[in-house]
Amino acid sequence: MTDMKLPMPPACAACRAMPDAGSPHHASAELPRRRALRGAAGIALGAALPTGPALADDPADARPQAGDLLVLASDDDASRPLTADAVASNRKPLQVFPVDPATGTVRNGSRFNKIALVRVDPAALDGDAALRAAGGVLAFSAVCTHEGCDVTEWNDKAGTLLCFCHFSQFDPREKGQVAAGPAAKALPWLPLRVEAGRLVVAGGFNGKPGPAKPA
Ligand code: FES
Repeated sequence: MTDMKLPMPPACAACRAMPDAGSPHHASAELPRRRALRGAAGIALGAALPTGPALADDPADARPQAGDLLVLASDDDASRPLTADAVASNRKPLQVFPVDPATGTVRNGSRFNKIALVRVDPAALDGDAALRAAGGVLAFSAVCTHEGCDVTEWNDKAGTLLCFCHFSQFDPREKGQVAAGPAAKALPWLPLRVEAGRLVVAGGFNGKPGPAKPA
């Protein structure tokens, strides 16, 4: 399965405001199909292998699967799976990709596999959210459901994920529901757990990542 590349929004507010500042929030729009560290030794985790049917022929394209570890999108280093402690409270979401612990394949073949991690106060999570969180760490698709920019920012006052393109906001405590802005669809979430201090994917996205109706 090959993912469609989404066009960039034609009128990104951040780019209009800072035309010479570059557009880090667009950085992954044309994500190269890297196959970082494929074939590297599997990561000894002792966790369950991925479950369920393969979602793509190429494992780097497959959506996150139960048992996957997480690595920073900035370096895709499968030898350094992310620990729960690495996710700070009330900070910009960490951008990560899942990695198959058995093969070391970073699933960065599709930008729809990118995940945004945030940490909130566990006491603020209801029973359902607490079940899919690892402590206070919650995971969402990092692709904005409005027009597909990366969701890279955090509104500290509101405690919401923020897309800098047109300022849609998503509430991590309420299943990624839209809190403000033009987006009309919640950010898909996926459940996490912690094993040996490391964050582990506990299941797939609860919905299809990306805009409701791609342009
Ligand atoms: S792409 Fe428009 S708010 Fe995110």
